[in-house]
Amino acid sequence: MGPLHRRDGKRVMRSVVILGGHGDGLVAAAALLEAERSGRPVRVAGFLNDATPVGGAIGGIPVLGRLEDWSTLSSDVLFLPALHKAKLMHERARRICGLGIPEERWATVVHPMSVVSESARVGSGSFVGPFVTIQPGAQLGRFVSLRAGANVGHDARCGDFSYMGPNATLCGRAELGEGSHLGPNAVVLDGKRIGNYAVVGIGSAVTKNLPEFGVYMGNPARRVAAISPGGLDVVAPF
Ligand SMILES: CC(C)(COP(=O)(O)OP(=O)(O)OC[C@H]1O[C@@H](n2cnc3c(N)ncnc32)[C@H](O)[C@@H]1OP(=O)(O)O)[C@@H](O)C(=O)NCCC(=O)NCCS
Repeated sequence: MGPLHRRDGKRVMRSVVILGGHGDGLVAAAALLEAERSGRPVRVAGFLNDATPVGGAIGGIPVLGRLEDWSTLSSDVLFLPALHKAKLMHERARRICGLGIPEERWATVVHPMSVVSESARVGSGSFVGPFVTIQPGAQLGRFVSLRAGANVGHDARCGDFSYMGPNATLCGRAELGEGSHLGPNAVVLDGKRIGNYAVVGIGSAVTKNLPEFGVYMGNPARRVAAISPGGLDVVAPF
């Protein structure tokens, strides 16, 4: 997150606006509320959401405008994207980048009940949920989302815009490509890589490198469909 201390050492309260709403947005809001309750100088200021009009609320948190309205908010406000969508993440990534929000305005939100090794790196715009563990040497890029209980092994890598569902595990040195999605309870064997924008279904076991833009399921995970920039094309029957 942006600086929480002024030069004189005083703590500065930072307001965070979440891009999104129901689902991932409220999960991120819950983490920020927990951080505030545990004494960290952060607060949720609202949502930016294209579907709910200004003046409305999501989970009791006000909607301040559409995504493009970020530039009308105070320059002190930080932003967190909660716009993950399996199979459509390439479109979402383009949308997030297209907003033109400067690097220093992205928050990095780490739930106070997660364990992040001191030698791990978490990029800006990323979200680390409760009970996540991130082991030494792990590197998370920008806009990564790790849901409750995800395990990132030592020296593992999560590319920009990648996602790990609840209780998913990346074993040591395993890798998530840009925008890829590892479903809840899925696991990736040590050193194996999931290609960019690929989707791995719930509870799957990834034992080999998986090429980009595919949908994979099962144990061992096998390819069941392709993802095209326009959507999903089925290449094999389920
Ligand atoms: C992999 C996935 C993207 C495929 O989506 P889809 O194309 O809409 O397909 P469906 O989910 O309808 O599943 C198609 C079939 O595969 C089966 N299936 C789904 N996931 C499966 C899995 N992990 N292993 C085995 N079979 C699976 C379904 O039961 C269904 O079978 P049917 O055709 O006999 O009814 C989706 O199942 C998925 O896992 N989405 C991500 C969920 C997720 O991570 N949510 C985050 C929660 S925090």
